Amino acid sequence: MKVLGIETSCDECAAAVVEDGTKVLSNVIATQIPFHAPYMGVVPEIASRKHTEWIYSVVKETLDKANLEPKDVDAVAVTNRPGLLGSLLVGLSFAKAFAWARNIPLIAVDHMKAHLYASRLSVPSAAGPEPPPAYPFLGLLVSGGHSIICRADDFDDITVLGATIDDAAGEAFDKVAKHYGFGYPGGAVIDRIAKNGDSGAFRFPMPSLHKGPHRYDVSYSGLKNAVINQLDLFRVKKDGEIKPEDIAASFQKTAVKILLRALLNASEDYGLTTIVAGGGVAANSCLREQLAQRQDLRRVFPPPEFCGDNGAMIAGIGYQYLARGGRSPLSVTASARVEGFKKKYP
Ligand code: KG4
Ligand code: ZN
Repeated sequence: MKVLGIETSCDECAAAVVEDGTKVLSNVIATQIPFHAPYMGVVPEIASRKHTEWIYSVVKETLDKANLEPKDVDAVAVTNRPGLLGSLLVGLSFAKAFAWARNIPLIAVDHMKAHLYASRLSVPSAAGPEPPPAYPFLGLLVSGGHSIICRADDFDDITVLGATIDDAAGEAFDKVAKHYGFGYPGGAVIDRIAKNGDSGAFRFPMPSLHKGPHRYDVSYSGLKNAVINQLDLFRVKKDGEIKPEDIAASFQKTAVKILLRALLNASEDYGLTTIVAGGGVAANSCLREQLAQRQDLRRVFPPPEFCGDNGAMIAGIGYQYLARGGRSPLSVTASARVEGFKKKYP
């Protein structure tokens, strides 16, 4: 069964066709990065306008690449939550129109659950994919808007154990990069320049969220501000006294440490030794290296092209709902937020 997946929750206009939930036949991601880069952050109005301009050609290219006609598509899956409302509505409206015109099922999908599903995807040319992790496992969902540690009992059954109480991990990478002028989007840039830096050059603060109900929560606003406050010093020091690479490496090390502390607390307390990651920050090399050192844990990361936003994860999880008889009415709406994905302090 071939499912068309559509993803427009933020700044990637993406679509894919996935067969039987795992086999990716085509995957097109049109990034809006150049349009948001001058502002060093996503401008919601620009995002929704670009989605409106691009969605038709992105879906057309996706079908062409898979050698399919619209009539060959069995169902349409689309992100309807969480995300930028205006952007979500473009993909959702397009998906509704496609499903209605072809008289095929529509499946509205939670973006974060789809990120967790992404590690089950495979491309036909990939040599022998690893067997998918058995449930239950511990999920680490880290993106520009969310940092979630959850227990997954099924692709649709996740229990949020911990979340950010302020900024998301990806947001901290983006904001630090913005203030230092490292480039946009910040995560990939910091990851790259940190490779030539000394991660011990600065000792940035860790939040004290290791007790009681916040044992699995994370916080990034303190770290973000501490790194940004270093900027004044960075500006006045002369050539090479403070190296941007050292700032990047020290920040990244602490950002990863914050995630791992909460994740390992949850792993220990819940006895879950398989960790499945998803979301843009799951591409981070320091996070991957640090987790790789834990021989006692099985780590499952999606292939890099499925870490960030993509239509394949939407089509993949959409198929699983469909296989259970799930479908959404044409009246389904978009929601910017999902309850429980962010926490308030205390
Ligand atoms: O999942 P995603 O593509 O979009 C959202 O759903 O938000 O995640 C985007 C986030 C951005 O904050 C970006 O800076 C971050 O993922 N990111 C990274 C890396 N690549 C992307 N963060 C750290 N290291 C990376 N290599
Ligand atoms: Zn995402």
